[in-house]
Amino acid sequence: MLRLLTASAVAIYMLTFALAIPQTGGPDGRSVFRFDTFGDEQLWTDTLQMQHAIKNVSPATALSVGLKVDADALPPAVINAIMAGQVNLNDPAVTLQLLKLNAVVGVIGKVVGANDNLATIGITCALCHSTVDNSVTARASEDVSTVGPIST
Ligand code: HEC
Repeated sequence: MLRLLTASAVAIYMLTFALAIPQTGGPDGRSVFRFDTFGDEQLWTDTLQMQHAIKNVSPATALSVGLKVDADALPPAVINAIMAGQVNLNDPAVTLQLLKLNAVVGVIGKVVGANDNLATIGITCALCHSTVDNSVTARASEDVSTVGPIST
């Protein structure tokens, strides 16, 4: 009887370990750093209601206060349009499109519904710890200062 109990205890112990050890194929550190908000939508969305403010912010304003756009997240057609000065950076709707593409470094905005409603806002480590090389912007107009592939 004692032996049976011990055997079950060992089995349960091992099972706990097997369940606790993360399986491979999960998110890597880099994507956690870039994309994991650790649930801080509770602060930025529920408490601070940033989604209402951000939906009225133009890309030009967002870039001027230091937000950055990850060129690697943009389709080539969008990059070409930015460089050709064909994207209206004073249009807040463009900010929503950038959030939809997950192209605003460190800001995770969930855009839902046919009317592009900004439902939640969260921030990630990359907001303060990543930068871009400005290579797209250098070739575009003066007022886009921070669009390029991410470099951290
Ligand atoms: C709101 C901005 C902001 C966010 C978001 C942020 N950090 Fe920081 N972090 C800072 C600042 C500012 C410092 C201090 C930098 C310094 O002392 O040079 C810092 C320092 C650090 C340091 C110490 C670096 C050193 O050289 O000692 C680490 C590690 C770090 N952060 C990791 C993270 C991680 C991981 C996350 C995401 C979970 C994160 N940070 C999110 C602003 C931020």
